[in-house]
Amino acid sequence: MEPRSTNEQHTHPYQLQNSKMWQPKDLILIAVSLCVLACTVAGDEAGGRPLMMAVSKDAATSLYTVPINSGRPMVLDLSGPIIWSTCDDGASHDTLECNDMDCMRAHRFHPPNCPHNGNGMPDAGNTHRCKCTAHPHNPVSGDTASGDMTRVTLSANATDGRNPLGPVAFTAVTSCAPASLLAGLPVGAVGVAGLGRSGIAFPAQVARTQGVPKSFALCLGSRQTTGVAIFGGGPLFLFPASRPSLTELLSSGTPLRKHGESPGYYVSASRGVFVDGAQVPLEDSYAPLTVGFSTTTAYAQLRRDVYRPLIDAFEQAMEEQAAGARVPSSSPAAAPFELCYNSSKLGQTRSGFPVPTVSFRLEGGTSWLVQGVNSMLVVNGGATACFAFVEMKEGDKAGYATGGGSAPAVVLGGLQMEENLVVFDEEKQTMAFTGQINGRGFFCNNFNFTVPA
Ligand SMILES: *[C@@H]1O[C@H](CO)[C@@H](O)[C@H](O)[C@H]1NC(C)=O
Ligand SMILES: *[C@@H]1O[C@H](CO)[C@@H](O)[C@H](O)[C@H]1NC(C)=O
Ligand SMILES: *[C@@H]1O[C@H](CO)[C@@H](O)[C@H](O)[C@H]1NC(C)=O
Repeated sequence: MEPRSTNEQHTHPYQLQNSKMWQPKDLILIAVSLCVLACTVAGDEAGGRPLMMAVSKDAATSLYTVPINSGRPMVLDLSGPIIWSTCDDGASHDTLECNDMDCMRAHRFHPPNCPHNGNGMPDAGNTHRCKCTAHPHNPVSGDTASGDMTRVTLSANATDGRNPLGPVAFTAVTSCAPASLLAGLPVGAVGVAGLGRSGIAFPAQVARTQGVPKSFALCLGSRQTTGVAIFGGGPLFLFPASRPSLTELLSSGTPLRKHGESPGYYVSASRGVFVDGAQVPLEDSYAPLTVGFSTTTAYAQLRRDVYRPLIDAFEQAMEEQAAGARVPSSSPAAAPFELCYNSSKLGQTRSGFPVPTVSFRLEGGTSWLVQGVNSMLVVNGGATACFAFVEMKEGDKAGYATGGGSAPAVVLGGLQMEENLVVFDEEKQTMAFTGQINGRGFFCNNFNFTVPA
């Protein structure tokens, strides 16, 4: 018989003392009752259902937005630690006090390129009340401003993973920002919904107000199609409705790692980088290969020591596979890409151009596989397809994702995450993904956006 691990066999001295009064079964009973109570309360007050929203891709900026601010769009920023939007200057807003827990949460992460200053320190002219100030950051322009921490009403639809089920409004703690901070964001956008690993980012606030897990899933559509985001876990069904939830195709996940002070999401490609299954020789094959994810960079950025070997390996594999398709990258349409090809000579499959695959073999055993859909960016009116991996620039303004201290080896951008269900799970501290779904007949824009009658 298998030895069973019981409290009696492995009793800790501390438990032993207490067990005179509290038997383990009593504790379990109490824990269960507390949970039932807590879940009921959360269920009554907030519904306890995940929230979904349609994700649009802006053609001009390649940024992704969700219409959560009275229907007005906010930009999704995987590396943003707070939510910020412009405040109506005319109307007075209520401002959090400095000793508010949320004010402290807002100061946990320091914006890139921003000199240290008195975060939320008392106003010189006001000794009675300390107003909480935060530092909203624009991930595109790299600018940082100052703004009051306030409360705004955001809204989204509850979902069962199949349809939107009707609107849910909730109060979120956000930072005000001057209208000038909107520079570089899509026309009409009123701010940024930070999705980072902070106690005050959008996923954490949805989790707290709705009583759902701190976990969210992104299914970004390719080529300006509408994708879907779900906050709070649960299944995700795409047309046709008879097919199982996409979440059943998820990998077991890879551990989320920290990179310096960044609130962003990083994993470790500890088992190397491969092109068409052949390992790419890197200068320092023992250095940890940190891979970050960014929804505010259009395509992949690589540190120079990884960029050169990967480009060389991809170029060579293309030479073997599609000789004669290469077009000079000197054409202006190709900038900033080094490897561009004549689209009509590449052929086409459900997974995009049939070009060599790039894979990042991750800690935990899964691989992030990049096929044509996610590696080739079509430019020049469709005539040219370029390998969308560029060299990271020193002192890039990209902000939290690449900023601060040493850069991660790789930052995968929006193009690399499209047509893939990616789940960022702060409860399990993992990132899980299905891999590219088009080859299996799924498309991120096939969510049923109709509210059932
Ligand atoms: C809920 O979904 C419906 C249908 O897609 C949409 O028209 C509506 O704007 C959504 N409501 C919110 C609050 O997002
Ligand atoms: C691409 O290939 C097609 C077919 O071979 C050819 O007609 C076209 O001129 C090529 N375009 C460029 C930009 O080389
Ligand atoms: C989408 O959902 C609505 C409401 O449940 C349903 O009536 C409709 O048939 C669904 N559409 C498809 C294509 O499944």
